Amino acid sequence: MPSVLITGANRGLGLGLLKLYVADGWRVFGCCRNPAKAKQLKAIAAKSGGRLTLHKLDVEKPDTIKALKKVLKKQPIDMLLNVAGYYGKSIMTEPGGRQEFGKTDYKDWDKVFAINVKGPMRMSEAFADNVARSDRKILVTFSSIVGSIALNNAGALYPYRASKAAVNMMMKSMAHDLKAKGIIALPFHPGWVRTEMGGPAADLDPGEAAAMIKKALGGIKKSHAGKFLDYRGKFLPW
Ligand SMILES: NC(=O)c1ccc[n+]([C@@H]2O[C@H](COP(=O)([O-])OP(=O)(O)OC[C@H]3O[C@@H](n4cnc5c(N)ncnc54)[C@H](OP(=O)(O)O)[C@@H]3O)[C@@H](O)[C@H]2O)c1
Repeated sequence: MPSVLITGANRGLGLGLLKLYVADGWRVFGCCRNPAKAKQLKAIAAKSGGRLTLHKLDVEKPDTIKALKKVLKKQPIDMLLNVAGYYGKSIMTEPGGRQEFGKTDYKDWDKVFAINVKGPMRMSEAFADNVARSDRKILVTFSSIVGSIALNNAGALYPYRASKAAVNMMMKSMAHDLKAKGIIALPFHPGWVRTEMGGPAADLDPGEAAAMIKKALGGIKKSHAGKFLDYRGKFLPW
């Protein structure tokens, strides 16, 4: 039975993916900040025959990552999905959500980087050995097309764009550094999706997007390491 660890599993894309992997018979480690309040997750776990377990994890808090490592020990993880992310205090379509030049909130910038960049870095360092012990050995961090420098033709979104460009660089380095362990590391763009972060104007319905994302993740092979993959299974320019 393949296994997947998902951060940010209580809502949005993390929840959509979790539902699909549970339905597909995978062993799922669902991580979120407050499992006790995650009603949907608890209901799915109760019906999963023990295949879904819920774990308290705040990627801004290294002690919660250490605690999870103590629970999982040497458990093989076929796919580590760093999904948890933070856009900023307002989403893109709200007033102030374009994160324009001259209006930078530096405190919020730190939070964006703590969650989007240091979070998946810490998770990857903590659980790379678990991924290496598995059959599939896939380590993915959710990035965004707005982290592509080549495709930036609109400006603004400073902290969020910069955080996802940093994710791309981080995953490229991991692809090199973890190759010897057989790990396939890459950044992934999930599409513009109508979650809390994506907002109501986004292109894709969360259920439709989760299905496309799962298919694209299922197609990952060794030659994908260090490439910027998207939800259609296509590569994006850096
Ligand atoms: N939606 C889009 O259009 C879109 C486009 C491109 C890329 N992405 C990326 O895809 C990923 C998922 O996005 P989404 O749309 O599902 O976002 P979302 O609906 O806003 O959900 C964000 C998730 O991240 C979790 N999270 C936030 N801070 C956390 C922390 N410190 N520790 C642990 N979990 C934390 C949230 O948990 P709480 O409920 O506890 O806050 C929630 O589960 C993100 O990395 C995002 O940047 C999304």
